[in-house]
Amino acid sequence: MRNLPEHIKHLVAHRTELETLAMRDLFASDPDRFDSFSLRLDTLLFDFSKNRVTSKTIDLLAGLAQAAAVEARRDEMFSGAIINETERRAVLHTALRSFAEAGPVVDGRDVMPDIDAERHRMDTFSGRIRAGDLKGATGKPFRDVVNIGVGGSDLGPAFATAALSPYHDGPRLHFLSNMDGSHVHDMLDGLDPPETLFLVASKSFTTDETMTNAATARSWLADALGEDAVGSHFVALSTNLEAVSGFGIPEDRRFGFWDWVGGRYSLWSVIGLPICLAIGYHRFQDFLAGAASVDKHFQSAPIRENIPFMMALIGIWYRNIWSFASHAVIPYDQRLARFPAYLQQLDMESNGKRVDRTGSLLSHATGPVVWGEPGTNSQHAVFQLLHQGTDIIPVDFLLALRDHESLPEHHDKLAANCFAQAEALMVGRSEAEVRRDLQESGMADEDIAHLVPHKVMPGNRPSNMIIYERLDPRTLGMLIALYEHKVFVQGVIWGINSFDQWGVELGKKLAKEILPMLRGTTSPESRDASTRGLIQAFMEKNR
Ligand code: F6P
Repeated sequence: MRNLPEHIKHLVAHRTELETLAMRDLFASDPDRFDSFSLRLDTLLFDFSKNRVTSKTIDLLAGLAQAAAVEARRDEMFSGAIINETERRAVLHTALRSFAEAGPVVDGRDVMPDIDAERHRMDTFSGRIRAGDLKGATGKPFRDVVNIGVGGSDLGPAFATAALSPYHDGPRLHFLSNMDGSHVHDMLDGLDPPETLFLVASKSFTTDETMTNAATARSWLADALGEDAVGSHFVALSTNLEAVSGFGIPEDRRFGFWDWVGGRYSLWSVIGLPICLAIGYHRFQDFLAGAASVDKHFQSAPIRENIPFMMALIGIWYRNIWSFASHAVIPYDQRLARFPAYLQQLDMESNGKRVDRTGSLLSHATGPVVWGEPGTNSQHAVFQLLHQGTDIIPVDFLLALRDHESLPEHHDKLAANCFAQAEALMVGRSEAEVRRDLQESGMADEDIAHLVPHKVMPGNRPSNMIIYERLDPRTLGMLIALYEHKVFVQGVIWGINSFDQWGVELGKKLAKEILPMLRGTTSPESRDASTRGLIQAFMEKNR
């Protein structure tokens, strides 16, 4: 953005034109506003008409994206160029959902044959587990599968399997992620060793949380069935297959992927094995195909008709020109309850950066705080702040037009609430309207005067609405890919590397130093007084 001062200047000037303009007036004066500010892709509709935008805004934002050469960077990503410069890696999660004959070349090698080989292994393995053909050490089929992973090796498959529960016809899936012993304790408590399969999912195969949980699960299994049973009950999903061998997982149970797949972009790879086990490989392919259809759209649609571009540009408009620091994602779809958590890693780990790609300190804002909870529950918890708080928080609403349950009494009400919240944020309730409502209710003038300011809703609060026919595997793949590319476009405009995550390293290093202090084997003398005091307090209760 530092190279785009003219574009920013125009956008800032344009903001002052819109400052006093109410969206409700924009709708009143333009009967085509919904058609002009919404885009369709397959069965999905992206309505961005309830934003503080006019066609001039869109022109200016599209000009910004053009000037930032986002399309060229996008093409570089798809071609396998090294765009993750600090880790010297290509970024090719898109190849994982491609069904092209030939793919991008990395280190002189077409990536597609390797991808196809792992897909084939996933197909065969998941098919055999689901059929009960591949059994545990005692000859029983697997009833429960526990994925042990964290971050990208957990959030994606965990949320996607939950989202697709109507399609589950395989073993029961569980996700163990936290190194808090309560997580592994409570999970193992309900499981039967002979019928339990563990997937150790870790790109690096060194992540402490995952290795600690895997070791505890391994002991639990070996204690119950003997050391020799481990090989039949553990599977590894990793890029670091050498480290896997030390864990005692046989070669035919090791599924690989590549360093050009970022952790938070990895659910399209073998990290998606839990999804395959739950819904079957054919439906997993539909999931990949949904994402691939968004890739095609992202690569080919002009900026103004390109949904990820528009999601990103509207986000930039609010983050950088209006200084809105937070973004809410509210799925009116209970099965997407963990989607906000997934998007938090995708967005905040990718775009939570303070220097540009050359290492220079940025003078503009980057990634917003992303958060959310499903509707309608969130209406009864956080919506007060969205409607009347002092911060303006743009919202993405998500809603399936059809449910899987055939419970119209529920689904009609769910949809009505979703549309109503977006409308309420936009139209608000003016002082005159509040006063009139209260007068009509027969309230005394004195009481009205007291209550009016509390009931005024400023309105003009922006939201996007993403509606889709049904939350099926293909649609879920589309939704995820839309957000991936949104994050990408924003990262390019901000001039940052969206594919590294150096900020997470320091805490890991310090934890390694502090652990022996808690165990009394090294001295906490070198730490600051607060950390020393906390270590002391822990030791008093534990040693
Ligand atoms: O610490 C952050 C992180 O590296 C994430 O980027 C990643 O998804 C997660 O840890 C888990 O890493 P791994 O898959 O290597 O265990």
